[in-house]
Amino acid sequence: MSVERTLVLVKPDGVSRGLTGSILARIEAKGYTLAELKLVEPTRELLEKHYEEHIGKPFYEPLVEFMLSGPVAAAVFEGHRVIEGFRSLAGTTDPTTAAPGTIRGDFGRDWGVKVQQNLVHGSDSPESAEREIGIWFS
Ligand code: PPS
Repeated sequence: MSVERTLVLVKPDGVSRGLTGSILARIEAKGYTLAELKLVEPTRELLEKHYEEHIGKPFYEPLVEFMLSGPVAAAVFEGHRVIEGFRSLAGTTDPTTAAPGTIRGDFGRDWGVKVQQNLVHGSDSPESAEREIGIWFS
């Protein structure tokens, strides 16, 4: 049986606020294994591939602009059921209402800007994970 993998991104707000280490430590503390890690200045082309399923949605362009605003820490974590485990650890999309104890709930808030700055991204299925890992670690 192959080990499940997921792509985790610490978004520009997490990196610029100095939270990368704290966020990665939480994922490791839950028991998942860090397999790849790098700091990336993503290009628009890379982000258009990564977020292609959201093209046309109202948040698409602000989201891409936000992701271009600074370095992103890209990581691959491994472990049985890591995809759902990380998404549970990350918390719901809106950091204002994400549950305390989650990454977004503990470290995030609404800063009164148009774009939602919610610190992390995690793949939502094994197929997405393999596609996204191929984009960020090709
Ligand atoms: S959807 O339509 O249900 O698939 O959307 P959702 O899963 O909630 O979010 C998809 C990604 O878009 C991000 N998002 C936003 N970014 C900025 N501003 C706003 N308003 C916004 N709404 C959603 C959300 O964080 C998801 O990005 P990732 O990188 O996957 O976390």
